[in-house]
Amino acid sequence: MFFDLSTFDTKSISMKFFIDTANLSHIQEAADLGILDGVTTNPSLMAKEGVKGKDNILKHYEAICQIVDGDVSAEVLSTDMDSMIAEGKELAAIHTNIVVKVPMIKDGVKAIKWFSDNGIRTNCTLVFSAGQAILAAKAGAAYVSPFIGRIDDSSWDGIELIGQIAHIYSVQGFSTEILAASIRNPLHIVRSAEAGAHVCTCPLDSILGLLKHPLTDIGLAKFLEDAKKM
Ligand code: E4P
Repeated sequence: MFFDLSTFDTKSISMKFFIDTANLSHIQEAADLGILDGVTTNPSLMAKEGVKGKDNILKHYEAICQIVDGDVSAEVLSTDMDSMIAEGKELAAIHTNIVVKVPMIKDGVKAIKWFSDNGIRTNCTLVFSAGQAILAAKAGAAYVSPFIGRIDDSSWDGIELIGQIAHIYSVQGFSTEILAASIRNPLHIVRSAEAGAHVCTCPLDSILGLLKHPLTDIGLAKFLEDAKKM
């Protein structure tokens, strides 16, 4: 499927690559590729790395910021506005590249508006509809994260949602960047780029999967064999 990009200023899009993990080795490996623009984490990814306790969580974000010179999303764990604001301020104080990740709930929208009014950038997470993406943009989120893999899992079309949000933001002139999240494979990355995502956050495997093509391997083997005859 190709998207009608006639309403887009396509020159302004150059899709950024974020890695979706809290694993420091994976982050370093992606950074070493030279194509890494940032990192997203979430409580599940932090727990997977065994990061426990407030001090260790803050230190872990600090360690990520030392590896990558780009935006690092750090998620709040509270669900009421005042606590989200208190938590977000603490996270934002870790490093200038920290983006406070806030869930798409009523208090989350209020908190995003507060952060935006007070110069703290946010990533609105757990977005599954165009309506939610409009609210996030209106509240002033720097990024909106539609979870395309989880949408596909429920037999809806995650990429179609990226295209719909891209169209709405372009028509309405919203500056919120679309961060395609919940990426499950390299094709999700290609199709997110095609649909107008500004950022794709991916596990390391999906990024490395972009490298793969059997004809590249066959072609290189042949070139190296023929090179011996030179
Ligand atoms: C990113 O910001 C999200 O937290 C993440 O992509 C969710 O991915 P999952 O659906 O694979 O858990």
